[in-house]
Amino acid sequence: MAVVSTSLGGGAVFSHLTHFSGLRKSFLKLDNSNSNSNLTHSLFHAVNSHLRLASSNKGCRGVVTMASSGKFFVGGNWKCNGTRDSISKLVSDLNSATLESDVDVVVAPPFVYIDQVKNSLSDRIEIAAQNCWTGKGGAFTGEISVEQLKDLGCKWVVLGHSERRHIIGEDDKFIGKKAAYALSEGLGVIACIGELLEEREAGKTFDVCFQQLKAFADAVPSWDNVVIAYEPVWAIGTGKVATPEQAQEVHAAVRDWLNKNVSADVASKTRIIYGGSVNGGNCAELAKQEDIDGFLVGGASLKGPEFATIINSVTSKKVAA
Ligand code: PGA
Repeated sequence: MAVVSTSLGGGAVFSHLTHFSGLRKSFLKLDNSNSNSNLTHSLFHAVNSHLRLASSNKGCRGVVTMASSGKFFVGGNWKCNGTRDSISKLVSDLNSATLESDVDVVVAPPFVYIDQVKNSLSDRIEIAAQNCWTGKGGAFTGEISVEQLKDLGCKWVVLGHSERRHIIGEDDKFIGKKAAYALSEGLGVIACIGELLEEREAGKTFDVCFQQLKAFADAVPSWDNVVIAYEPVWAIGTGKVATPEQAQEVHAAVRDWLNKNVSADVASKTRIIYGGSVNGGNCAELAKQEDIDGFLVGGASLKGPEFATIINSVTSKKVAA
C-alpha cells in the first residue's frame, strides 16, 4: 500500500496544506486520488487535531513541530552492556543531569541490574525491561515474567527489537503475544519495527514496517500505552544514521497507516520515535522532523551527558513563534 510520496517507490503525488493549530503545526495530507472520502477523512482528522491540540498546548513557548499530541519520549536501551560499577556511574551521571521537563524518559537496563537501577535512579526516569515472557510466569526456564518486572517497578518493556527478531529469531506472532500480555498487565510497550538494508534496497521498507505494525495492531487491545519505535536495522549500532528526511518519510507513513487501519485518534496520539545511531550530534536535526516524537537510543545512552543532550533535543522542536 503506497500511502505517501516516496523515493522508495510509491510514486504518489502529495500536497501538504500547512496550518497551525494552537501552538502546534499539523499537515493535511491529500493523496493523488483526491477522492471525496479521502478529503473528508483528512479534514475530519485535521479538525479533530485542531480541537485537541488547541486545548492541550496552553502555556507552550512557541510552535512545536510535532504531529503527535503526546509528550516527547526518549528511551535508552542499554542492551547487554554494563557491570555493577559502570551502571552505578551511569546512574549517578543521569541523576545529576538537567533534563527538560516536557519529555518522558525511560531506560532499559539488563534484567540483572534492574533492581540496582530502580533503587538508585531518580524517579524522574522510568525503567523498561528489554524483553518479557508471553504470559504469566511459571515453568519457563530462563524467562522473565511481566509480573516479576512489575514487582521490580518496571513501567515499560521493549518488544520486537531487531536484535531479538534477527539474532534470536522472534517472529511477529510471538512478539504480538508478548505485547498483548504486557499491556493487559499494565506495562507500556515500546514496539519496535524496521527494515533490513536489503529490504530497503529492494523498495520494501513500507511493506516490512506495515507488516510488523499490523502484527502489533492485530494483537493489542488498545494503543493507549504503546510507543512505536522505527529503527531501520541498517542504522542500528552502525553509526549510519537515517537522514532526517528518510526517518520522517517512514514516520509519516506509519502515522498514515495508523490513521487508515486503526483510527485517526490513535494516529494522532501515538508517539513514533526513531532509533538507529542517534547521538548528541545528530539528535537536534532529527527532532525537528514533525513526525519524530522522540528517540530510542542504544550506544549513546550508555554515556549520561550525551543521553541528556538527546533528551534535551526536545528544545529543537520548539521554533520561535
Ligand atoms: P544504537 O541502537 O543507538 O546503538 O544504534 C539503537 C537501538 O538498538 O535501539
